[in-house]
Amino acid sequence: MRSDDQARLRAMTNERPTQQPPATESAPPGHSLALRVVPMPADVNANGDIFGGWVMAQVDIAGGICAARRARGRVATVAVNAFQFRQPISVGDVVSFYAHIERAGRTSVTVHVEVIAERNPARPVVVKVTEATLTYVAIDESGAKRELPNAEAAD
Ligand SMILES: CC(C)(COP(=O)(O)OP(=O)(O)OC[C@H]1O[C@@H](n2cnc3c(N)ncnc32)[C@H](O)[C@@H]1OP(=O)(O)O)[C@@H](O)C(=O)NCCC(=O)NCCS
Repeated sequence: MRSDDQARLRAMTNERPTQQPPATESAPPGHSLALRVVPMPADVNANGDIFGGWVMAQVDIAGGICAARRARGRVATVAVNAFQFRQPISVGDVVSFYAHIERAGRTSVTVHVEVIAERNPARPVVVKVTEATLTYVAIDESGAKRELPNAEAAD
């Protein structure tokens, strides 16, 4: 791993002040932006933080976008292998979902998703709030599993 990537990874584990809006620089190494969304007051739980189910739905969507690109077509979520909520998300945070294919099998794609919240536009901070690993299966029009195309075809 390059030293600037290591510094970025270290920095993302804690809140940090930044000079510039950090949206374009918050991608975890090897991950690509799949989805960016701002949660609304309708998405909060009883504590006033963003509801975990909302986060899980967005993570599933983001991972599914990544998996469908690799599968060149429809995918279905077959498993949520791991899910960790590290920090709460607040209304108005700019929430970015970065995805990385961990493994491509015969019919399945396993995707790691890291979720970064960007908050306080006056003095921006970026916080790694959630990470998860999900497995998707490539399916055909009838919902039956199908083999993945080779990787070159998916590039
Ligand atoms: C997705 C589906 C078509 C897969 O069919 P299946 O016959 O059960 O598939 P298999 O058991 O042969 O597994 C297919 C692939 O998924 C992988 N897989 C299955 N269960 C898994 C699990 N719990 N964790 C990780 N990978 C899993 C298998 O290893 C296999 O991968 P590979 O082909 O790359 O080696 C079927 O399970 C289904 O329709 N599930 C419902 C999907 C859905 O509705 N999702 C939305 C949830 S609300």
